[in-house]
Amino acid sequence: MTAATGRFQDRGAVVTGGATGIGGAIAERLAVEGASVLIADINAEGAEERAARIQATGGVAAARATHVGEIDQVQAMIQAAVDLWGRLDIIVNNAYPAMEAVTGGAEDVPPDVYDRAMAVLVKASYLSAKFGVPHLRRAGGGSIVNISSIHGLLVAPGALVYETGKAALIAATRQMAVEYGRDGIRVNAIAPGHIVTENIQAGIWDDNPSGYEFFEAQYPVGRCGRPQDIAAAVAFLCSEDASFITGHTLVVDGGHSLQIQENFGVAQAHYIQDNPTTQLPY
Ligand SMILES: NC(=O)c1ccc[n+]([C@@H]2O[C@H](COP(=O)([O-])OP(=O)(O)OC[C@H]3O[C@@H](n4cnc5c(N)ncnc54)[C@H](O)[C@@H]3O)[C@@H](O)[C@H]2O)c1
Repeated sequence: MTAATGRFQDRGAVVTGGATGIGGAIAERLAVEGASVLIADINAEGAEERAARIQATGGVAAARATHVGEIDQVQAMIQAAVDLWGRLDIIVNNAYPAMEAVTGGAEDVPPDVYDRAMAVLVKASYLSAKFGVPHLRRAGGGSIVNISSIHGLLVAPGALVYETGKAALIAATRQMAVEYGRDGIRVNAIAPGHIVTENIQAGIWDDNPSGYEFFEAQYPVGRCGRPQDIAAAVAFLCSEDASFITGHTLVVDGGHSLQIQENFGVAQAHYIQDNPTTQLPY
C-alpha cells in the first residue's frame, strides 16, 4: 500500500494508456498522492473502469477515449485535462500496446504499419508536448515522463520498430529537457525491464510457469518487475525530490541490463542444463 503523501495535491495530470498495465498503476499512484488524473486511452471502457476504481478509493480521476497518434485527439485530450482540472502539471506518455508490438526487421515491416506504430511510440510525445507545454508553463512548470524501455538502450533482432521508437523517445526526452528547462519543465524517461502486467501475465505466463521462473532467474534482484515499480519511479521523477533531474533516462530493470553478455549467456545455458524441461516463451 502506497502512502497518501499529498505531494501532488492540486496538480493536474494526464496519463496516456492508463486503462491497463503500467499506465494504470501510474494513474493510481499519482492519484493516491493527490493528483487529479485524466486517463487517456484508446480503450474507453478500460479507462472508465480505472477512473472509477480511483474514485472509489477517494482519488480524483476522469477518463477520455484518445488515440495518442492522432493530432486532433491529443489536442482535445490536453484541453480536456485543463478544462477538468483547471491546470496541467504532469504529462505521462505511456501508451503503446505492449502485447501487440509490431515485430520484424526492415524487410518485414510494411511502410503503413511502420508509420502507424511510430505515431504511437514517438509522435505522441511530440504532440502531447506541442499542446501541453503552454499549459505546463502557465502552471509555473511541470513534469513530462516518457515511458521508454531497455529496448531503447539495447536491441533485439525482429524488433526494428520497437527499438527505433523507444530510442527516439529517449532522444526526444533529452531534447525537450534542454528546450524547456528554463520554463521549469523537466522531461525524463523511464526504461523498464520486463514488467508483468495483467496482459502479460494472462497472455504469456499463466500457461508457462517454467518460462516465468527462467525469466525471473535472469534478474539480479531475483524477480521481474511490477507495474507499481514503474509507477513509483514516475512519482519520484514528478516530485520535488527530482527537481534537479532532467533529460535523464532512469533504468528500472532490477539490474537486468547491467550484466555482461558473455557471463549472462553462459549462466542461461547452465540454467537450461539444470532445468531441461523449461518452456521457452519465444
Ligand atoms: N510491460 C513491459 O514489460 C514493458 C517493458 C518496457 C516498456 N514498456 C512500455 O510501457 C508502456 C505500457 O506497457 P504495458 O505493458 O503496460 O502495456 P499494456 O498493453 O498493458 O497497456 C497499454 C495501454 O495503452 C493503450 N493504448 C494502446 N494504443 C493506444 C493508442 N494508440 N492511444 C491510446 N492508448 C493506447 C492500451 O489500450 C492499454 O491500456 C508501453 O509504452 C510499453 O512499450 C512495457
